[in-house]
Amino acid sequence: MPTQRFLIDRYDPADDRAYEQEFSVDYEPGQTVLDCLNIIRWEQDGTFSLRMSCRHAICGSCAVKINGRSGLACQTQVPAAAGRGDPIRIGPQGNQPVIKDLVVDSHKFMEQFERAETWLQPHEEQEPPAREYRQDKDEFDHWQHASTCIHCGACYSDCTVAAVDPKFLGPAALAKAYRFVMDSRDSRKQERLEALSRMHGGIWDCTRCFMCVEACPKDVLPMDAIMELRTEAI
Ligand code: SF4
Ligand code: SF4
Ligand code: FES
Repeated sequence: MPTQRFLIDRYDPADDRAYEQEFSVDYEPGQTVLDCLNIIRWEQDGTFSLRMSCRHAICGSCAVKINGRSGLACQTQVPAAAGRGDPIRIGPQGNQPVIKDLVVDSHKFMEQFERAETWLQPHEEQEPPAREYRQDKDEFDHWQHASTCIHCGACYSDCTVAAVDPKFLGPAALAKAYRFVMDSRDSRKQERLEALSRMHGGIWDCTRCFMCVEACPKDVLPMDAIMELRTEAI
């Protein structure tokens, strides 16, 4: 059974103390970084805190920094992470305050979806359909990549603009806004584009650094969505 070293950023809010701690984990081939973090928590140090749920890259709760770049711990195989550095460095997501160890306060990240009004606002003059609001398949194929977001925050964590501007909507909220701008069932395309253009932290503040595209575990392509929003806005 191979052994892997992990160097983990810890934070104890009781003492307001930040420190690094090294652990060694014996793991089975095929196990992920999340499996190893759970071994640490369950077998070595019960005070170690992290978020997780599905273990299958669905719930979005286990995003952390792995060797400095954000990603899902449950989607990262140990040898792949070790190939980028030994010991594997693990830390909490960036651009959000740390509550304890790997647990961050994601309020600021989630608030951006509300600012961007990321929900369907259908045409009120139309009679509601007998069943669901249908979307044309070709249109859906065009923006479906932006509908696969699991709100893990990895893109926001690595975003170079969110790092310096807390009002920046960020890649995930802008990708979700794009999804509704492009949805023909929505009644507010022009108003959305105007708001996203004018507001502090809107589509023109992205520096096209590409970090969100690299971080996203679901191929949402947030930067591409932002660039298409700019084209639509012009
Ligand atoms: S491309 Fe834009 S939205 Fe994406 S991480 Fe860079 S600055 Fe942030
Ligand atoms: S866009 Fe990708 S990286 Fe960002 S929150 Fe959604 S799934 Fe996570
Ligand atoms: S535990 Fe759900 S995405 Fe990793």
